[in-house]
Amino acid sequence: MDVGGASPRTRSPHAPPAAEATNTEPMDALVIQGGRALVGRVQISGAKNAALPVMAATLLAPGLHTLRNVPRLADTSTMARVLEQLGARVEMRGSTWTIDTSNVQSVEAPYDLVRTMRASIYVLGPLLARFGAARVSLPGGCAWGPRPVNLHLDGLNALNAGLEIDHGYIVGRDVRLKGATIDFDVVSVGATGNLLMAAVLAEGTTVLDNVALEPDITALAQVLVQCGAHIDGVGTRRLMIHGVKNLAPIEATIIPDRIEGATFLAAAAITHGSITLEHCEPAHMGAVFEVLEQAGSTVLPADREASISGPRRPGALDVTTAPFPGFPTDMQAQVMALLSIADGTSVLTDTVYLDRFTHVPELQRLGADIRLEGNRAIVKGVPALQGAPVMATDIRASAALVLAALSAEGETRISRIYHLDRGYEAFDQKLAKLGAQIQRVQE
Ligand code: UD1
Repeated sequence: MDVGGASPRTRSPHAPPAAEATNTEPMDALVIQGGRALVGRVQISGAKNAALPVMAATLLAPGLHTLRNVPRLADTSTMARVLEQLGARVEMRGSTWTIDTSNVQSVEAPYDLVRTMRASIYVLGPLLARFGAARVSLPGGCAWGPRPVNLHLDGLNALNAGLEIDHGYIVGRDVRLKGATIDFDVVSVGATGNLLMAAVLAEGTTVLDNVALEPDITALAQVLVQCGAHIDGVGTRRLMIHGVKNLAPIEATIIPDRIEGATFLAAAAITHGSITLEHCEPAHMGAVFEVLEQAGSTVLPADREASISGPRRPGALDVTTAPFPGFPTDMQAQVMALLSIADGTSVLTDTVYLDRFTHVPELQRLGADIRLEGNRAIVKGVPALQGAPVMATDIRASAALVLAALSAEGETRISRIYHLDRGYEAFDQKLAKLGAQIQRVQE
């Protein structure tokens, strides 16, 4: 799919529309000439991880739902296809999407779609809650290892779902959800979202303890409350949900993407640049601001804006990921790219995903000096990275390679960038506007 204004050699960064497969452009690559400071203003899109659960939540109420500020990404398109498969009608007008769930007839989310995006499992809770039935493929692993869904299943079973695993599918039949108390032993964004969506229509009261505080989840709870759900404790570690019989259709604006915003800040920092994010939410980015400042940047948050001036050379520091409000695992790879040119040795520890390090061998190809010890990466800063051909492996790993390439001497070619298109809207176009020498080519 080409976009108006793109030159014949450049390709659309936009995800294909819902009717097309998400892998229609799997062979695009990015060619980047490094060494240019990023300068200017960039508009941050709606958050992928906030849009996905709200899209799934449209299944909770029959009718016409309106979602604004939806990012046009392969992942949001995949969720649209999952909803269409169930019988919903999705219309996309720019970033305003309407979803009509009046005629949902199926309760099956098939393997073909779920395997391309784990977050498809978000439809499980809503389907059980509204239809008392669901048949959702098990998602399987991902690029950096196994990612279980036991918390989703155990939690829904505690709500009386009686789920079975049948030939790779999670199956619920004749389900009548009933309130219960669930204390998560691991903080899970997805399980909190799924259980929350299930509990709003369950009979009686559900208590969810040790829930995720990620802004995406708080925003979901707020949207549900606007539609008539009774939820106490929104924004705290304990949610108390009093089930209601039905909900009104959703009218919501998706919150800004804090990970996209943080990635641009890191891109400015690594290129000794100076940029301003527009349409962002600084209150969601505190831990990232802190790390970037410790590495020598100056960050100035304002009202729905944030500016950064990057250091001449970043300083080394230790970073540990943690659930929100901690430093996000979704920024670990990008900050590793930044610290790979730091003056000194840094240690990055990922406590959320212990083996999320597929970017390490690729950063090493660009000259980074990184050693892995379990869930820690010891990064000895080098004065400069050098351009080389590399391969993207997942969304954030791809972003890290782009950042590394922007600072590297010479040309870097990043292949398999369809991962990038899953999570960043018009990333290459936005970077080009900030002065990056970046081109999308077909391999
Ligand atoms: C979401 C985000 C993803 C981010 C992650 C952690 C979306 C669509 N994706 O993923 O970008 O990297 O949060 O911030 O919002 N776990 C279990 N059992 C489960 C579920 C999770 O053990 O049933 C573990 C995971 O292996 C991981 C931890 O819990 O160690 C956190 O994962 P979780 O918050 O559930 O991640 P996702 O919701 O899948």
